[in-house]
Amino acid sequence: MEPTVFRPGLFDGQVALVTGGATGIGYGIAELLGGLGAHVVIASRRQEKLDVAAESLSKNGARVSTVSVDVRDVDRVKAMVEEVQRDRGRIDILVNNAAGNFYAPSESLSPNAWKSVIEIDLNGTFFCCQAVFPVMKAQGGGRIVSISMTLHYRGWPLMAHATAAKAGIDALTRTLSLEWARHGIRVNAVAPGPIPTEGVRKAFAPPGGSGVPDVFAVERALEDYARKSIPLGRWGAPKDIANMVAFLASPAAEWVTGSIFVVDGGEWLARGQPTGR
Ligand code: COA
Repeated sequence: MEPTVFRPGLFDGQVALVTGGATGIGYGIAELLGGLGAHVVIASRRQEKLDVAAESLSKNGARVSTVSVDVRDVDRVKAMVEEVQRDRGRIDILVNNAAGNFYAPSESLSPNAWKSVIEIDLNGTFFCCQAVFPVMKAQGGGRIVSISMTLHYRGWPLMAHATAAKAGIDALTRTLSLEWARHGIRVNAVAPGPIPTEGVRKAFAPPGGSGVPDVFAVERALEDYARKSIPLGRWGAPKDIANMVAFLASPAAEWVTGSIFVVDGGEWLARGQPTGR
C-alpha cells in the first residue's frame, strides 16, 4: 500500500464489506481499508474479477475474502450479508460502491436500460443498507458510506438514469442517517469527481482509423481537460475517494452523519468557468 496519513491498524479487528470492490474506485477503497487492518470482503458479480483482486490485495498484506453477488437481487444481497456475518462474525463498515452506467439519449433509453441502472445503483444500495442494518444494530453500531456522483447537481445530458439513481442515493443517505443514528449507525456518502477509469479513457480516445495510433493522444486529452476544467489541476485517483471513505469510517468522523462529501478537485463548482490555469 502507498504511504497514508491514517495510522497503521486503524481498522484492526473490523470487517468492511465493499460492493464493486474488485475494480476501480471500489478496489482502491478495499486496498486502503485492508491496508489499515480491516478484514475486507469484496463483492461483485464476476468471481473471476474477484479472484484477481483478492490475490493482489492479499499480496499487499490485506486480509480479504470474496462474495459474488448481483446487488439487484435482494435475496442474494441478504444471503451475502448472512454469509459475511457467519464467516467473520460482524460487519462494521459497508461501502456501497457497485454501480452500472453508460451514456445514452433519454428519448431512446429502453425500459430495461433505465431499469438496469436504477436497480444496480439505487435499489442495490438500498438492499445492502437494509440487509446490514440488523447486523449493525445488534453489534451496537456501524458505518455506511455510499458512492454518489456530482452530475445530478446541475443535470447531465445522456445520463438520466444514473443521475436519477444517484440523486436517490443522496436522499437515502440523509433519510437513513436520521432513522438509524439512534442505533449508532452513521450513514454518509462520497461524490467523486472525474477518475480516469477505462470508460473515461475510451471517451477521451481520438476517433480511430487514422493509421498509426498515437499512444499519447489520450494522455494529452486528459491533461488538457484537467488543466481547463479541474481547479486543482489533476484528475482524481481511487485513493482520493478511498481517503474520504476511510475518514468517514474512522472515529474522526464520529459526529458526522447524513453528509455527502464532494471529492472532485473543485470540478463541479467550476463547470463552465475558467480555472485560471
Ligand atoms: N446504451 C443504451 N442502452 C444500453 C447501453 C448503452 N450504452 N448499455 C446497455 N444498455 C441497455 C441494454 O440494451 C439493455 O436493454 P434492452 O434489454 O432493452 O436491450 C439494458 O441496458 C441492460 O443491458 P445488459 O447488457 O443486459 O446489462 P446488464 O443488466 O448485464 O448490466 C450494466 C447493466 C449497466 C452494468 C451494463 O450496461 C454495463 O456493463 N455497463 C458498462 C460498465 C459499467 O457500468 N461499469 C461501471 C461504471 S460506473
